[in-house]
Amino acid sequence: MARLSANLFNYLDEYHLSFQTLLDNGLKSRECRYKEDAIQMIGKLDLESRSEVRVLSIGSGNGDVDFHFINALVDKYTAIHYTVVEPANGPIDKFKRLIESNKDKWNGVNFTFHVQEVEEYLEEGGTSDKYDVIHACHSLYRFRDAENTLRYLYNILSMEGMLLIRVIKDESHSRYQTLLDNGLKSRECRYREDAIKMIGKLDLESRNEVRVLSILLDPAMVGNRMLDFLTVVLNFRNSRPPDEVEDCLRYFRDECCYVKANEIMFDYAEEDIIIWRKQHAQ
Ligand SMILES: C[S@@+](CC[C@H](N)C(=O)[O-])C[C@H]1O[C@@H](n2cnc3c(N)ncnc32)[C@H](O)[C@@H]1O
Repeated sequence: MARLSANLFNYLDEYHLSFQTLLDNGLKSRECRYKEDAIQMIGKLDLESRSEVRVLSIGSGNGDVDFHFINALVDKYTAIHYTVVEPANGPIDKFKRLIESNKDKWNGVNFTFHVQEVEEYLEEGGTSDKYDVIHACHSLYRFRDAENTLRYLYNILSMEGMLLIRVIKDESHSRYQTLLDNGLKSRECRYREDAIKMIGKLDLESRNEVRVLSILLDPAMVGNRMLDFLTVVLNFRNSRPPDEVEDCLRYFRDECCYVKANEIMFDYAEEDIIIWRKQHAQ
């Protein structure tokens, strides 16, 4: 009989610790691109007539990604209202420390935090707010009803506003998808294909920008937490039968990784889907 395993998504603190191991083992390198990307994206906004630019960040984590958006925003606009919706307390505390250490540069930014899931935020009246920029970076997979939530988000976008959905590009993960789909994982929205399908249904203008990143992944050294994140199973190494763990590690090494300069690399490609709210798309 198949052994039951705990879905990592149901354990927010553990989930964040696991995600951190990916960042610490190479994924942080993605941020080299984020600064320039944020400047380009914010540069395309045409919101000069607004007295205040309103931003909604969904699933911010500790604000590492927001950091680049906020810097790009304050370089262009003087008054910004920045709303964060993030269900985990620990990362929000870190985000607040980030604000404190940037308080001089970010003094034109008024922050509001909602420690809740995006669905709760919208149900409690968030839909009465309008935003000029909404971004959900790697949080779409966690939405309870991704399609309806995307629709809501589009509806609360102001005219000329921008909705950015950053997701994992499915090709990079499809190689171990088969393994993870083996009853261990349940995700309503998987990766880019699902997001594009939903966005297509919304009949929006969308544009893809692809980045490919790598993290170091030596299966012999993979820590328990990193393994938890990659398999989406809490305590994978100790809660699954030893032969399955062995198989999984072999699978990562032989099917998913490649060697570069004596290092074992694992592609973590991500994609930005950008949706503009234009008059003609009404
Ligand atoms: C993989 S992390 C991404 C963090 C950050 N945006 C980044 O790109 O590094 C996903 C984040 O979504 C948050 N999250 C989980 N469920 C959510 C929900 N239903 N609504 C909003 N955020 C959620 C998690 O707590 C977590 O901080």
